[in-house]
Amino acid sequence: MNNTDSLIIVGAQWGDEGKGKVIDYLAAGADVVARFQGGDNAGHTVVYGANIFKLHHIPSGILYPGCISLLGSGMVVNPLVLLEELAELEKRGITTANLKISEKAHLIMAYHQVYDRGNEELLGDNKIGTTGRGIGPAYADKALRRGLRAIDLADIDVFRERLAQVLPVQNRLLEYAYGHEGYDLEQLVEMYRPAAEKLAPMVVDTSRLLTDKLAGGKKVLFEGAQGALLDIDHGTYPFVTSSSTVAAAAGTGSGLGPQCATRVLGVMKAYTTRVGEGPFPTEEKGEAGVLLRDQGAEYGTTTGRPRRCGWFDAVIARYAARINGLTGLAITKLDVLSGLETLNLAVAYECGGYKTPHFPSSMTDLQQCNPVYETLPGWDEDISRARAMAELPEAARQYLEALEETIGVAIELVSVGPDRTQTIVRPRTFLSHWCGD
Ligand code: GDP
Ligand code: IMO
Ligand code: MG
Repeated sequence: MNNTDSLIIVGAQWGDEGKGKVIDYLAAGADVVARFQGGDNAGHTVVYGANIFKLHHIPSGILYPGCISLLGSGMVVNPLVLLEELAELEKRGITTANLKISEKAHLIMAYHQVYDRGNEELLGDNKIGTTGRGIGPAYADKALRRGLRAIDLADIDVFRERLAQVLPVQNRLLEYAYGHEGYDLEQLVEMYRPAAEKLAPMVVDTSRLLTDKLAGGKKVLFEGAQGALLDIDHGTYPFVTSSSTVAAAAGTGSGLGPQCATRVLGVMKAYTTRVGEGPFPTEEKGEAGVLLRDQGAEYGTTTGRPRRCGWFDAVIARYAARINGLTGLAITKLDVLSGLETLNLAVAYECGGYKTPHFPSSMTDLQQCNPVYETLPGWDEDISRARAMAELPEAARQYLEALEETIGVAIELVSVGPDRTQTIVRPRTFLSHWCGD
């Protein structure tokens, strides 16, 4: 297995770090881009020229016709939404001929969305603030061993048979918990038939495909969704998503061993955002937060919700580096900070009279943590045309150096705008080698 040429890319904050942008840029040098977890809760934006693509299931390598795009076994897939996504891309002249779906990926069914929204309603003030896409219930059904998988959908008779086994339970629960009238088996089968027909030829053994590609010396890019702090185990539980978002999930979510890639790139915004509920120590509820939201156009790609904004938090960045084994960083949206007189950088937390550089496991402790800031000078220049580190103002370079030093991981890529071209890759790094340097 040629793992030294492969790369895992993960979000290293609370999602929306600009993974889509970075992955699209690096996919130019990839033979395969494989998503390994999450579902259509993800919203990955790719911009080149006047073209804007918002991808939910489909990997950000889809825009390269020679690249295989793959939905791994760790994903949950909504066949109806995927159908729309495919239609939209095809309408815009993007070929989807190279899209493959793991036989083992679980399906998000219509009733999962009813559970998701119903559960949020019952939680009231304690709601998670989910995307409402049915992600949690689909993963829960997988764990409860009553899920349906892509391989079941590939044969409509098998699909009907599996659905007939689980639907009475689902209908009973829907009625009991939410007073919902439930679903009719044949109506559901008809609802999913077009998706079954379109998707069936794409459903394959992606573990074997990936193994063959790696053995043949091909370059595989593993695409993460969400971010480290939304990880089901290591995130700000319960305000998390329902999958493992960390790099180690690239193996299990693709049907490969833990050696599937030796390089792990963590994508981080030059500040912090979060969408949905839950703790966020460096959140700025005042003027600075509004400014970041306006300048950064911080509105959810999937739900359109305004994102909560705040300063860069090096405590979570160090934590993300540890739980992912990050070997490099991509810092995005540096351009958004232009025009700020000074920049705050949280280097530690102050918690009950103690200063700590570590991220706490207890959410009760986290609620009581206040960030300890270092203040750095800002810059006024428009940096969106910079294509090398040397073209950045001195203060911007100082800021990046401060991030590197406090996180302890080298920055390999800096993004200075949403467009594919607005990217700086550091020479003599793994990424510059990846890009053919
Ligand atoms: P993802 O979920 O991590 O792929 O991120 P999203 O696509 O949800 O959100 C990131 C947003 O920031 C998108 O609208 C991108 O087009 C935009 N973006 C990405 N990188 C940059 C950058 O360097 N500068 C600016 N101004 N916008 C960026
Ligand atoms: P990308 O891949 C940002 C958040 C939701 C909510 C929590 C649980 O675009 O970075 P869920 O619907 O997954 O059960 O919601 O997780 N969330 C995201 N936040 N980016 C995402 O994906 C997210 N996917 C889920 O807002 O707080
Ligand atoms: Mg997003």
